[in-house]
Amino acid sequence: MTQQPVRDFDFHGEALDNIFETYRDLRSECPVGWSDRYGGFWFFTKHEDIFNAEQDWQTYSVTPSMLLPDLGNVEPMIPIDVDPPEHTHYRRILLPLFTPSAVDELTPFVVQTARELADEALKQDVVDVSHTYARPLPMIVFSSLIGYPPEDWHLFDQWIDRIFARAEDAEDATRASQEVHAYLEALVERRRNEPEIDDITGRLLKAEINGRPITHDELMSYQYLLFIAGLETTAWTIRAGLWHLARNTADQQRLRENPDLIPAAVEEFLRTLAPVQGMARTALKDVEVRGCPIKKGDRVVLAFGSGNRDEDAYEDSDQIVIDREQNRHFAFGVGVHRCLGSNLGRREVVVALREFLARTPLFEAVDPTEQWHGVGPLHIRFVREA
Ligand code: HEM
Repeated sequence: MTQQPVRDFDFHGEALDNIFETYRDLRSECPVGWSDRYGGFWFFTKHEDIFNAEQDWQTYSVTPSMLLPDLGNVEPMIPIDVDPPEHTHYRRILLPLFTPSAVDELTPFVVQTARELADEALKQDVVDVSHTYARPLPMIVFSSLIGYPPEDWHLFDQWIDRIFARAEDAEDATRASQEVHAYLEALVERRRNEPEIDDITGRLLKAEINGRPITHDELMSYQYLLFIAGLETTAWTIRAGLWHLARNTADQQRLRENPDLIPAAVEEFLRTLAPVQGMARTALKDVEVRGCPIKKGDRVVLAFGSGNRDEDAYEDSDQIVIDREQNRHFAFGVGVHRCLGSNLGRREVVVALREFLARTPLFEAVDPTEQWHGVGPLHIRFVREA
């Protein structure tokens, strides 16, 4: 009889403060284990096991939800909570919206927005760059993608906070989610009478899924998922990059002097400080992994953040090496559900860091207690020459 290794493992909230030590410990002592949190789940912490599970959608399903804990939604979110073959049809609709050329087209707007926000931040000596820069940038960019007025980004900003604070206040999170739905419904209704507008909402309205018109519920599900998937993740990564650079001024100066290194640095921030530390699956059949008996119906968390720091996969795996050359990480996933917005997310983070560094003098961290994770405050001080 195989022993079930139990650890009190969590990958959200305060657990993230020391998660890299936790991962190191788990990878060496308990690479696959069971946690009783969130109704109970297996966790995989080794790069190899996470990679294999990501490829094997026939064994590891994304239903009922890829998020653990989930966001309280009753219906699965399209396409992230749907398995192939339906997933393939749903994903196909979104693909043309996020191609490299679609992202190129949007880039001047990203650059202009980044410049305006950076100039605003520069007016102060000490500034919270999470609230003035990392958060507004993706939300304003998203407004141009799906078609809401850019000044409404404040609404999206507080909805994100309330929805992701479900653990603290589930009722308010549900209310926030209803508010988002109502807002997006109104946007869709408006767009029905504006067929000439060619944003994501306009294109989805005309989309066909497997030869039939898209339904209203499917359209709303896409809209909601894009809001959930694209905003906090990108804001987190911009903030995490600035967090590192404020604490490692040699890296900061190196990137300022060599902006061509910024894309490689962004990959390294994505690897080591990833916004999605783990995604959940459900076993569709009994399997054994590293001697652990996973039963049909058990939840399994693929700890991307641990796989990204696995010493068997990367040299100096816990070090942030801003010009690392080989860097195939899990920040966007590597299976059939790999991030659809990765071209856009990457571009936004690269532009955000490049424009910020190009316009600012040296900056330093102010508050040593501010953590690497999340989208909470991040205070920096500009060191201006006298
Ligand atoms: C740095 C920013 C981002 C990160 C780190 C990120 C990360 C992820 C991850 C980890 C997944 C799940 C992969 C898996 O389980 O295999 C995912 C899926 C997804 N992401 Fe992103 N994401 C980012 C930005 C965006 C943006 C900007 C959008 C669009 C506006 C977006 C849209 C999606 C969609 C639609 C899916 C579901 C794909 C599917 O199920 O086929 N993401 N993302």
